[in-house]
Amino acid sequence: MKQYILNGGKPLSGVVTISGAKNAAVAILPAALLINGTCRIENVPDISDTRLLLEILDSMGAVIHRLSPNTIEINCSHVRDCEASDALVRRIRASYYFIGAQLGRFGHTRVALPGGCNFGPRPIDQHIKGFQTMGAEVEVINGYVCGSAPKDGLVGGRINLDMVSVGATMNIMICAVLSSGITIIENAAKEPHVVDLANFLNAMGAKVSGAGTDVIKIRGVKALHGGSYTIIPDQIEAGTYMAAVAAAGGNVLVQNVIPKHMDCISAKLREMGARVTEYDDSIRVERVNRLRRANVKTLPYPGFPTDMQPQIAVCMALANGVSVITESIYDTRFRYCAELSRMGANIKVDTKLAVITGVEELTGCTVHACDLRAGAAMVIAGLAAKGTTIIEDIKYIERGYENIIEKLRDLGADIRRIDKPDPITTPSAG
Ligand code: EPU
Repeated sequence: MKQYILNGGKPLSGVVTISGAKNAAVAILPAALLINGTCRIENVPDISDTRLLLEILDSMGAVIHRLSPNTIEINCSHVRDCEASDALVRRIRASYYFIGAQLGRFGHTRVALPGGCNFGPRPIDQHIKGFQTMGAEVEVINGYVCGSAPKDGLVGGRINLDMVSVGATMNIMICAVLSSGITIIENAAKEPHVVDLANFLNAMGAKVSGAGTDVIKIRGVKALHGGSYTIIPDQIEAGTYMAAVAAAGGNVLVQNVIPKHMDCISAKLREMGARVTEYDDSIRVERVNRLRRANVKTLPYPGFPTDMQPQIAVCMALANGVSVITESIYDTRFRYCAELSRMGANIKVDTKLAVITGVEELTGCTVHACDLRAGAAMVIAGLAAKGTTIIEDIKYIERGYENIIEKLRDLGADIRRIDKPDPITTPSAG
C-alpha cells in the first residue's frame, strides 16, 4: 500500500520541467509495431503506462533499448504475428492501439478489451467502424476484439466519426498508414497528441495530412522505415502544475511547454485571477490574491480538456463564489468530488454537472485517488490544504505523472511517498 503524505498550506515557487506527453507516447509506442527498422523515440515519459506498453511490445518480441530514462530505441522488424498478453492489456486503456497496429501490420488482431480509468462506459465502436470501413471483419468475442483484413489487404475509405474520439482517430490512423488507397477521417479529434502521432508516423515514412483539423487524410504506403522522433510536452501535466500554483499560491515557471496547447487552461486561470505569462516554451503562473469563481464546460480540443476537470475543480473549491462545471465527454467523472468534500469542499453533483461553492480553506485528511486525474486533484488539494493529507491508491497517479514527488519537492512542497505494509486481512466468517 503506497501512499503520498503531504503537509500543505505552503505556496509553491521555482521551476518545473514538463515531461513528454503521455497520451502521445501511449499511441506512438504501439505504432512502433508498424515500423521496419529501428525507431528512436525521445522524451518518452517514464511512467507506469509507458513501462507497461514496452513490456507488451517486449513480450511480442520487439527489441527494446532504453538509452536514457526518456530515450527508447525499438525495433519490431522481427516481430512475428503474435498476441499481446491479456493480463498486461487489461491494465491499460491505450492497449486498444495494438488492435490498429496488428491489423495494419499483420492483417489480423486478437486483443483483450482494454481496461483503464473508470468514467462510465467507454465503448470502442468508432474504432471498429473505422477498421470495418477499411474492409476488416471485426467482432468482439468473449471479451476479445478479433479482426482480420480481406485477402488482398485493407483498403482506405471515408470514415465519419459519430463523435469526436481521440482514441478512434489515432487508432484508425495507425491502422491506415500501411493500407492501400486513401483513408479519410471526418470529425477527427484535433488534440495535440493526434498531431504528434501523425508527425511521428510521417517521420517514419507515412503520408498523413490534415492532423490538427477535423479532416485527416492518410495515403497508404508500402512500408515504414526507422528514424528518430521527439514527443511533445504533456499539455495535461503542464496544466496540472499550473492549477497547483493557482490553488496553493506562489510563483512558478512551468518550462518545456507549447504555450499554444495551454491556451484554454491559461485563459481559465487568468479569468480566475491568476497571473499567467507566456514565453516561447514556458509559462509563468503567479497567484497572490484569492481566486474568483468561473464556469467550465469540458470539450474536445481546443476546448477545455476533460483531463483537467478535476484539477480545476480544486481551484474552484477555494475560489470566491459559486462555480459550475459541465462534463460533456464522460458520464461519470465526478467521483473524486466525494473525496474533496471530505477535505471541506462544498460541491453538489448532479450527473454531468458539479456546482462548487468556494470555501476559505481545505483541511487535510485521508483521501483516495479514484483515477489518474482525480489523483492529481487530490495532490493539488493536499498542497493547498491546511494540515496533513494522506493520498491512497497512488498507483493511478503514477500511471501518468513522471517524478511527481521530486518535481513538487523542487517547488518547495512537503510531500513524500511511503510504502505502508498491507493490512493483515483475516477471512471473514459466514
Ligand atoms: N466514445 C464512443 N465510442 C468510441 C470512442 C469513444 O462512444 O468508439 C466516446 C467515449 O465514451 C467518450 C467520448 O467518446 O464519451 C470521447 O472518448 P475518446 O475516444 O476521445 O477517449 P479515449 O480515447 O478513450 C483519450 C485519453 C483520455 C482522455 C480522452 C478525451 C488516452 C489513452 N486516453 O481517451 O485520457 O480523457 O481521450 O480527451 O489517450 C487521461 O489521460 O487521464 C485520460 C483519461
